[in-house]
Amino acid sequence: MLHLAAIDLKRQKINNLFIPVCENKPIHSDPLVSALVDRALTFPEFKGKKDQELVLHQPPGCAAEKAVFRGVGDAKTLDAETLRQMAGKSVKRCIQMELARMWLAAPDPAATGIDETEGLRALMEGAFLGNHLFDRYKEKKEKKPLTRLDVLAPPAAVARLRRLPAEIETVCGATLMARDWVNLPSNAKPPRVLARLIAGAAKARGLAVEVLAERRLQQMEMGALLAVAAGSSNRPAMVVLQHKGADRRPPVVLVGKGVTFDSGGINLKTGDSLPDMKGDMAGAAAVASVLVAAAELNLKRRLIAVIPLVENMVSGSSTRPGDIVRTFAGKTVEIGNTDAEGRLILIDAMAYAERRFKPEIMIDVATLTGACVIALGEKIAGVFSRDEALQQGILASGRRTHERCWPLPLPEDYKELLKSSYADISNMPSTRYGSALAAALFLSEFVGGTRWAHIDIAGPGLHRKEDAYCGPGGTGFGVRLLMDWLMNNP
Ligand code: BES
Ligand code: ZN
Ligand code: ZN
Repeated sequence: MLHLAAIDLKRQKINNLFIPVCENKPIHSDPLVSALVDRALTFPEFKGKKDQELVLHQPPGCAAEKAVFRGVGDAKTLDAETLRQMAGKSVKRCIQMELARMWLAAPDPAATGIDETEGLRALMEGAFLGNHLFDRYKEKKEKKPLTRLDVLAPPAAVARLRRLPAEIETVCGATLMARDWVNLPSNAKPPRVLARLIAGAAKARGLAVEVLAERRLQQMEMGALLAVAAGSSNRPAMVVLQHKGADRRPPVVLVGKGVTFDSGGINLKTGDSLPDMKGDMAGAAAVASVLVAAAELNLKRRLIAVIPLVENMVSGSSTRPGDIVRTFAGKTVEIGNTDAEGRLILIDAMAYAERRFKPEIMIDVATLTGACVIALGEKIAGVFSRDEALQQGILASGRRTHERCWPLPLPEDYKELLKSSYADISNMPSTRYGSALAAALFLSEFVGGTRWAHIDIAGPGLHRKEDAYCGPGGTGFGVRLLMDWLMNNP
């Protein structure tokens, strides 16, 4: 599917050749490719500006049927993400042109200043991720994904990076799996069905899988999780996935928010935002996919995912605002607002994970607060941690993968906002100001000594519009981020 190849462009007959072009600097060292670029730039309509395109049929000296030049703009702003986007858009153009394959010429790292491995990785990622279509519910499949993607590079790089295409296929394949789960409508993924889908994917990769049914959750007295599930006729479940790894250290535990639909409950949401709430399990999808990728790549680190799955609905059996529940950890919570349900399922899952697995590090990923979207917009996740090294490590992975993250604080004095007159704590802060922070502080009250980070992906978990290498809907945000973190923080 994904290949890094060195080919003789003079002789090898290929259908197309996509070439990134800068507007103010030659970036290809291959003499044939740079001659073609010079030729393209003689046309007044093509200057190499971002997203400009020019097609040359039967390009001189080259065995390709056509050369497709794609502008990447100013050399000064050229980075790995520009290449990732260029590759994604090129694939989308190929799909539009009903081609089956694409060939993409990588620029010279000496000219772009982008590290060779990172540049090739970005091109392969963008191409692979851009080749994803979610058309399960369309009778007519108008678009067809490409069957093979070749990124062209010098022979030395191809030899050195022999294993890279397969690794990218695994990580980006897991990203696409997460996207698909988010894209499924809520009627196709009630908690127990989603549990089965995740369990199926996990078992196929040799992960140890447990699905805890409602009875088990009741026996374990997960009062907070069960309170959220109470209004839905679709029963909750909790999935536990384990990747054993060779390493003997205590594991890394990932916890993902899995609300298969968030109506808000009795504090019913209004109009506009409701259809997006099928994506309120994007954290669950991401961590499950990370385990799948980790198993495929045989990562050394012991890794566990704990995934609480519920549906937050309105009915005669719904939890009421003002209800008080006892959590798995033993503390009581006054449910001031039934729409602040994510933190309720997460605290039971995290307390359980901590008690059972005694992890070295715990990271939760959740579409937790609208306030985080207000603060950072739809493309950047908020990262909360009292562990500086852990937080910095995640931020660094965000920069490398362009799954962007920004640090947000856990101010001790804001805990004040979560006081309840009747219970140990309220799930509803007393003011809406700073409520992404209050939500994170609420979670922190249920983590013991474990090194912990919380990633709020309410913004980047799901997009309404498509972008360069993602269709509309689920983004798979978090999969590449956490895989990068796991592979760089052994
Ligand atoms: N699932 C939402 C958060 C969300 C908002 C995700 C927008 C994706 C896009 C969460 O359960 C929620 O409703 N949070 C409330 C909390 C409030 C009631 C304290 C919020 O952020 O408004
Ligand atoms: Zn909610
Ligand atoms: Zn929610």
